[in-house]
Amino acid sequence: MGLIIALVNQKGGVGKTTTSVNLAAYLAAGGKRVLLVDIDPQANASAGVGVRLATQDKHIYHSLLEPKLVTDIVKPTKVERLWIVPAQADLAGAAVELVSLEGREFRLQQALELLRQDYDFIIIDCPPSLGLLTVNGLVAADQVLIPLQPEYYALEGLGQLLNTINLIQTHLKPNLGILGALVTMYDARNRLAGAVVEELKNHFPNKLFQTMIPRNVRLAEAPSYGQPISLYDPHSRGAQAYSALATELLALLTPHVS
Ligand SMILES: Nc1ncnc2c1ncn2[C@@H]1O[C@H](COP(=O)(O)OP(=O)(O)OP(=O)(O)O)[C@@H](O)[C@H]1O
Ligand SMILES: [Mg+2]
Repeated sequence: MGLIIALVNQKGGVGKTTTSVNLAAYLAAGGKRVLLVDIDPQANASAGVGVRLATQDKHIYHSLLEPKLVTDIVKPTKVERLWIVPAQADLAGAAVELVSLEGREFRLQQALELLRQDYDFIIIDCPPSLGLLTVNGLVAADQVLIPLQPEYYALEGLGQLLNTINLIQTHLKPNLGILGALVTMYDARNRLAGAVVEELKNHFPNKLFQTMIPRNVRLAEAPSYGQPISLYDPHSRGAQAYSALATELLALLTPHVS
């Protein structure tokens, strides 16, 4: 049965999508069957794996309105063993429509439970807000992964995010776990970044991934070619970091034999 991981941070531009796409690609490269789920109206994860829909195509929006449609919405990508439930800009409208629907927080969960048995991992790329789409992402997930850019405001935003996760655990999804926080766009020459990472280690003992993703221009270029970094430039520092992250995640999930 697949593990469902939501990539969440209400702050924009911290590397949620870059991490969703490239972690998914390296899990697939390691032999896992992986489904990427795009629940952001910006549809960046869809573009990042080269999936662009025609306006009339069905996408995640339709499976939120009618969860059983999801099985027809899954699309293959050019990465072996990687599939996607894509999004389109009109998903923004679904967020409004969802409000009046019964079980509005559980729509994505219902859809993904229909797919879970077909994959080893389901990775949900959430939008930069704590609105109803992200709530759907959190309720559908088993675990949360929090990408963070190491800057001063990251710590403030983190408190707010942890409160929201707490509320979800109390009211909607008691067994939602926090897999960990991931430092992205790390620049070792920046002293503030180093200080923030130290602070994060204090805040998040045992919950900060050892792998840190460096700032690397190849990671920023890859989406314009509709390719994960594993296809675009597998020898880049960014590629090596995401490959290491996938390895670290798999080790974390494998029960220790002592
Ligand atoms: N490690 C990195 N090095 C260089 N550029 C990066 C890196 N990670 C992400 N970027 C770039 O930074 C920008 C924001 O990244 P990304 O889209 O992954 O963030 P996001 O959290 O998904 O944003 P949003 O909140 O808008 O969904 C993008 O242009 C992306 O290409
Ligand atoms: Mg994004």
